[in-house]
Amino acid sequence: MHTIALYNNKGGVGKSTLTLFMADFLASLTVAGRLLRVLVIDLDAQGSSSTALLGDEKGRQARAADLSIGHLALQLAEGGRPALEPFLLLRPRSRSGHPPLPAITVLLPERESIFNFDANPLQSLTLLSHTLKPLLEQIFDIVLLDLPGNLDERHLLAINGLVMSDSIVIPMEPTRLAIHALPETLRMIRYAQGKNRRGTPTLLGIVLNRTDRRSRQFHLHVPEMVQFLEQTGTPCFANCLPNAPELANATDDTLAFTSLKDRYGGYYPHVKKVVKELFDRWQQAPLG
Ligand SMILES: Nc1ncnc2c1ncn2[C@@H]1O[C@H](COP(=O)(O)OP(=O)(O)OP(=O)(O)O)[C@@H](O)[C@H]1O
Ligand SMILES: [Mg+2]
Repeated sequence: MHTIALYNNKGGVGKSTLTLFMADFLASLTVAGRLLRVLVIDLDAQGSSSTALLGDEKGRQARAADLSIGHLALQLAEGGRPALEPFLLLRPRSRSGHPPLPAITVLLPERESIFNFDANPLQSLTLLSHTLKPLLEQIFDIVLLDLPGNLDERHLLAINGLVMSDSIVIPMEPTRLAIHALPETLRMIRYAQGKNRRGTPTLLGIVLNRTDRRSRQFHLHVPEMVQFLEQTGTPCFANCLPNAPELANATDDTLAFTSLKDRYGGYYPHVKKVVKELFDRWQQAPLG
């Protein structure tokens, strides 16, 4: 199993969108004679990726029954051995008249950040690594974690998610604001790495989103970005994702039940290239 966090402390840079499309593409891949088994753990209270995958109604019902990652973590923290199955929600496979969608499983976020503060049982930042990860290893090949922006040390559940990851991808836009948000993002990644004896998660690199390498905007900010990346030793993917205006509704659950591949033809092929590069980077990364 490989666990990948999509994280950038800056909001609105495309974390949830890339999570959704990577999950969809990876779940369509056959390896060693069977389809990859993909889980998306949504750790952002906004629930963008989980709502797009499950639909608002299914998410609402499951949350009302306390079937969220937070409640699962609480039971694990209290030493319980919860049955995982009720928490693992399946994306609806098809709508009438459409071919079946690749199977994706989802773990829901909390609606509110009720697990943020000191006086709660999630004190251990390695709780999910030690308790949840071994259980997931028996079921899934790939786990994608959709992280919220604006993290700090108080966000115990989200940081638990970072700590349990093998690798991190940072979706980012080539804008000055996004460049200025990078130091804080890297600081939180180092914080998560410091909690792990193996030094994971490994930072696989930045994926530039809404990027046209020929645009004036891109060239305007390239020198500042390159300088920052060199100074901090931060890797960057060679493949980037284009601005795709049709994506405005991609995390809208009323649309997402049709094939993402057919609907978002301008964006999807770039996701495939990013995933391919990701595989190459794994093979080179010193993973534990
Ligand atoms: N390449 C793109 N081209 C055009 N629009 C995009 C692109 N990527 C993402 N978007 C749109 O930008 C908005 C923000 O994207 P998304 O929700 O994925 O970002 P995020 O980093 O997860 O945000 P948050 O920090 O709020 O969780 C969404 O409306 C999404 O549809
Ligand atoms: Mg998001």
